[in-house]
Amino acid sequence: MNPIIAGNWKMNKDPSESRVLIQRLLELAGDVRDRDVIICPPFTSLAAVSELIKNSRFKLGAQNMHWERNGAFTGEISGLFLKSLGCEYVIIGHSERRHIMGETDEMINKKLKTALEIGLISIFCIGETEKEREEGRTEEVILNQLKKGLRDIESEVHKIIFAYEPVWAIGTGKTATPRQASEVHKFIRKQFSKKITILYGGSVNAGNIDSLMAEKEIEGVLVGGASLKPEEFTRIIKFQQM
Ligand code: PGA
Repeated sequence: MNPIIAGNWKMNKDPSESRVLIQRLLELAGDVRDRDVIICPPFTSLAAVSELIKNSRFKLGAQNMHWERNGAFTGEISGLFLKSLGCEYVIIGHSERRHIMGETDEMINKKLKTALEIGLISIFCIGETEKEREEGRTEEVILNQLKKGLRDIESEVHKIIFAYEPVWAIGTGKTATPRQASEVHKFIRKQFSKKITILYGGSVNAGNIDSLMAEKEIEGVLVGGASLKPEEFTRIIKFQQM
């Protein structure tokens, strides 16, 4: 399996800025063969990015979706719409959605179920806050997120991509050390009999990518801030094996 490098643009880049960014990225890294690159722009840029990457090896992902397929859910987006725009992936349960938008494990569970049903690959985010880590509760919190998030779909975990994103490392410049990330990845993996894929996320940048990817537990990364800088994201995509 190729390492997975996913870029989460968050609420950045309108459609015309997105075109500029993706074009630059295609010039710099469009030729990469042994990495799977997933680009997750905002909803309003999906069509533009989809069109520009359709003949490349880059794949398209969305940052969220609703759990229903359609109906009276003003302001929400159906996973089916995402598929029709060319998305193959969707980020589910990102910590900004959990902590800022009040998304619960139960909502996340419904979204994961729907994504499986309609054939979108979820990038399912889990991770502890700084306080929870300081209190020694990291494993308890992760276990709870896994248990509730995966209710009734435990047998399908091999179809989901997990992303361990410690909340204290997201957008803060504080990265988990490769060893800290690796320990949690091992703990997550231990919970399942099936083989699962686990990415690391949280302040990944050009300077720490090589050492993170040197850990065999880390099968890829979910990158926020640095995915908006084409040169830096290219260096991340083209990380060097140590
Ligand atoms: P960051 O974000 O790389 O800016 O820390 C990661 C994420 O939120 O997925």
